[in-house]
Amino acid sequence: MILDRRTVLTGAFAGVLALPAPLRALAADDVTRVDDLIARMTLEEKAGQMTCLADSFRPYNPPNPAAGIQDEKRLTDEIRKGRVGCLFNGIGVVGARRAQEIAVKNSRLGIPLLLAGDVIHGLKTIFPVPLAEAASFDPALAEKTARAMAIEATAAGLHLTFAPMVDVARDQRWGRVVEGSGEDVTLTGLFAAARVRGFQGRDLRRDDSLLACPKHFAAYGAVAAGLEYGSVDISDETLRETHLPPFGSAFAAGALTTMAAFSEINGVPATADRELLTDLLRGEMKFRGFVFSDYTADEELIAHGYAEDERDAARLAVLAGVDMSMQSGLYVRHLPDLVKSGAVPMATIDVAVRRILYVKTAIGLFDNPWRSLDENAEKTRIATAAHRALSRESATRSIVLLQNDGILPLDPAANRTIALIGPFGEDRDNVYGPWAFYADPGKGVDIATGLRAALPDAARLIVVKGCDVARPIDGGIARAVERAKNADVVLLAIGEAQDMSGEAQSRTTIEIPAAQQALADAVAATGKPVIVLLRHGRALALHDGVANAQAILATWFLGSEAGHAIADILFGNVDPSAKLPVSFPWESGQEPFFYDRKSTGRPVIDNRTEYRARYATTDNSARYPFGHGLSYTQFELTDLKLSDAALRWDRAIEVTARLTNKGKRKGSEVVQLYIRDRVASRTRPIRELKRIQRVTLASGDSMLVRFSLSRTDLQFVGTGSRIIAEPGLFDLWLGQSSVDGLHTQFTLYAQEATKG
Ligand code: NOJ
Repeated sequence: MILDRRTVLTGAFAGVLALPAPLRALAADDVTRVDDLIARMTLEEKAGQMTCLADSFRPYNPPNPAAGIQDEKRLTDEIRKGRVGCLFNGIGVVGARRAQEIAVKNSRLGIPLLLAGDVIHGLKTIFPVPLAEAASFDPALAEKTARAMAIEATAAGLHLTFAPMVDVARDQRWGRVVEGSGEDVTLTGLFAAARVRGFQGRDLRRDDSLLACPKHFAAYGAVAAGLEYGSVDISDETLRETHLPPFGSAFAAGALTTMAAFSEINGVPATADRELLTDLLRGEMKFRGFVFSDYTADEELIAHGYAEDERDAARLAVLAGVDMSMQSGLYVRHLPDLVKSGAVPMATIDVAVRRILYVKTAIGLFDNPWRSLDENAEKTRIATAAHRALSRESATRSIVLLQNDGILPLDPAANRTIALIGPFGEDRDNVYGPWAFYADPGKGVDIATGLRAALPDAARLIVVKGCDVARPIDGGIARAVERAKNADVVLLAIGEAQDMSGEAQSRTTIEIPAAQQALADAVAATGKPVIVLLRHGRALALHDGVANAQAILATWFLGSEAGHAIADILFGNVDPSAKLPVSFPWESGQEPFFYDRKSTGRPVIDNRTEYRARYATTDNSARYPFGHGLSYTQFELTDLKLSDAALRWDRAIEVTARLTNKGKRKGSEVVQLYIRDRVASRTRPIRELKRIQRVTLASGDSMLVRFSLSRTDLQFVGTGSRIIAEPGLFDLWLGQSSVDGLHTQFTLYAQEATKG
């Protein structure tokens, strides 16, 4: 890669001259203060501002390998010398004050530290994992839970969360599917923006505003074969069409930081990719905040085979556009000398420092370095009853009813004997899900506790484990079968442990572990009605005793209130209304699998399968498709109408249909609008989600749902990466999942030549 000084300067300066909305509010004084500081900073202090280190004042144990400074004494010394600008992954006001005091009172320039952490789905009150919450198909709910997380995180002495993860995840073998919003670009974008709004609130200077850091830029979810930290080989068109838009939504919602992905794209590690982090991110996408590296990712450029040594790695990362180096310490060790030797222009450093200081200014840190460090807030704002209630609401709204032969909801008063079988019945270690390391262990509600609280006679609940998550227990299956035989109904609590998804948890198969599958098959063979309660951080391929159950609920990792929420749904206190944000394939081997795939030249049509695009052993369809989710009531869509079958270039058409609750209970449905561009200069997916609308209706009620569509909804990234819409015929479906719905067509007409 050839870099000339002029490109570095112009590219980098563009990044600070046009400030994003929250930064535009900086007063002239603030800008002067930053200018003044930069003028007074030594090179080492500048590199220090660009350095983020794990917080040894209040250490927690996130899923990161031990690296870098591990003790408070050494870190104190580094802060005093101005060699650190940001600490991460510690909580607690007392420790944070200790660190901040050193920065503000004992370092030469007194620049306050930025305090960051991974608050992914809660601090002490744990909400459903992000993937589960995406199943609500309700971004407004995610905005509320993000707000609650921000209130807790800022009360515990944090200014920034490394969230939301906005990577579109199309291969369920990848463990980090659990941290995002699933396989669809539109849904991920809606949740990305909602979560940023929720974390940051309306005013960044408030002490309960938590900066967001949408991550990982970019296309981390496209790692080949779902292999964590793996490589991405992708066309520019797909990168722009599928993986960048959620970042665009997060930035438009006001996010001021982002994190470069660990992975490489087309042979260049993201951390060293100037085209990605500068030309595209800042030039085209107009991102004006600052970029974190991921954890030691600059140093990892050496292992990638892209940098010669640490010095070279620091040089490549900073020139690419990484402003803040996380945990490796490479910047503070090497940038001063790199600048002195002329390998890195001083202007590059100044721009990065300016970006970081502007963000610190934007949250009011210079005026009040003690913001979000209030012991009273720490006592009163964390783990409140209101947050707990919101966690329960959010958890009930995340549970997807995959199938039901009518056995659900259960009548709690029916006085049946219920056998709760499986490793998760009374287990409290796998309730929260991955990335909940600040939460108090054991404080989440397990399934048995939730059920007992809901049953008039708790003694009618019999609990038996049957097997461990991944191993049989001696005599376990026999005991479970015995209990099942004596029960009226079986609840089978099976699935993945929480450490089977999340970072570094890629799997080659996405199935129920063998020990549990054997348990499920044996229990199913008793002939007793079985309701499966799946625990999981990804879509699963279900088989036999599990797949053939009378009812299946996808319950993911639901957080603090899991057991109560599951009881709420099982006993019908709440109607299930969630929809799958990821397709459940028939077999693991179908991955990567996503609903918006291409037709191919030989699609399976009318069950004709010879020489068709399918596997010899299974159709390439989903067992439970994206968008699927049942309710205890029945909804019907009728009367699909378009205001006009002709969509003029600069106009819109209105799409309407009637949604009726035909069942006997109140319930909610998510109406989904999909399109397909029939013929295009780059082939288009068989369906693309464009709109969602959640509607709640009492039994017998109906309402007209309305959507408006215009040309911009039909745009795609054409050859040569141009965003275009092409005139011609489009399919439109309004439905309750990605494979059903009422169908119609319309035509986009070309722009009329202007007369004159
Ligand atoms: C590595 C992960 O990839 C990233 O998402 C996380 O924020 C950092 N570690 C910090 O813990």
